[in-house]
Order: sequence, then structure tokens, then C-alpha cells
Amino acid sequence: MIRLDPRALRQALGRLPTGVTVVTTRAADGAPLGFTANSFSSVSLDPPMLLVCPGRRLSSFDAFVICRHFAVSALAGDQEDLSIHFATCPGDRFAGVAHRTDLNGVPILSGAAATFSCQTAQAIPAGDHCVLIGKIMDMTDGRMPALGFAHGRYFQSNALPGRI
Ligand SMILES: Cc1cc2nc3c(=O)[nH]c(=O)nc-3n(C[C@H](O)[C@H](O)[C@H](O)COP(=O)(O)O)c2cc1C
Repeated sequence: MIRLDPRALRQALGRLPTGVTVVTTRAADGAPLGFTANSFSSVSLDPPMLLVCPGRRLSSFDAFVICRHFAVSALAGDQEDLSIHFATCPGDRFAGVAHRTDLNGVPILSGAAATFSCQTAQAIPAGDHCVLIGKIMDMTDGRMPALGFAHGRYFQSNALPGRI
């Protein structure tokens, strides 16, 4: 099998612009958990489904693979600070961050471009990540530009043509 250069692979994959999300759930003891993820993708409209890929390196990995519910907050163009916060902050990442709980009791972030509240449909092991597929039970649409990520840098989706 051809051995791909991991750095070259990351660089090539990073050329594809993505959105930036914060994926959230609750631990068994009720503690809120969240991490920044750009591995988000829509999956199905009928039934409505999405996916995101938590990595095995996450301290919250075990909680995400067994969670019954999770939520995805698609960050707005002005929420770059929250992307960094949920990728790096140790301890309680929700302290001082405006949020509310959704119909499943899972935290979702205020001011997000869109939010999706999910029931876990499948958690499929995939290499050093897990493909977490959720059935969307509720959503909000802030009708505002979303935060984008490409080449390791952030951009606002209103840099793109088209309507919001
Ligand atoms: C823009 C961006 C996108 C990321 N996407 C993912 C992802 O899709 N899956 C993942 O497991 N980690 C992703 N990360 C890394 C995690 O957010 C970060 O490693 C994690 O929150 C830190 O680990 P901890 O939660 O154990 O402290 C991303 C980080 C950034 C800044």
C-alpha cells in the first residue's frame, strides 16, 4: 500500500473550505462537553441527518461515542474566538459563554449561524476518528453569515456571492 505523507495529506485536505461548528453533549454526570469541529457534513434531508467526526484524541471522545443526544452549533462569522475557545480551553468550556439548553438538555451556543439538535443514530469507528451520525430533531437558523475555515485560516461566508 502507498504510504501517504501525513503533512501533504493534511495540506491537500485543508484546501477544501469547510464550516466551523461546536459539537456539544452532556457527560453521564451531566457535565456539559463541547469541541470545535470542521468535519461537519449534511447527510440526508428525509429523514434529516448530519454527521460530525470526533477524534480519538479528544478528552471527551468516550462521552461522544456513547451519547444519546448531541447538538451542532454552526458558528457565525464573528465567532472565531469561540472556535479557538472550544478547541483549546481546559476545564468548563461553557463558563462565561452565552448558551441555552435544547429540547434534549444539550447546550447550544447563542449567536450561532444555525443550530441542530440531534438524536444519535450511529457512531461508526473510522480510523483515528468516529463518524457520529445524528437524526436532526430541532434546528434554528440565525440567517447570518457563517464562519468558514480553509488553509488553516478563518473566513466569513459572506465573502461568497449569493443570498444569506
Ligand atoms: C477549526 C478546527 C476544526 C476542528 N475539527 C475537529 C474535528 O472535526 N474533529 C476533532 O476531533 N477535532 C477537531 N478539532 C480539534 C478539537 O477541537 C480540539 O483538538 C479539541 O477540542 C481539544 O481536545 P480536548 O477537547 O481534549 O481538549 C478542530 C479544531 C479546530 C480549531
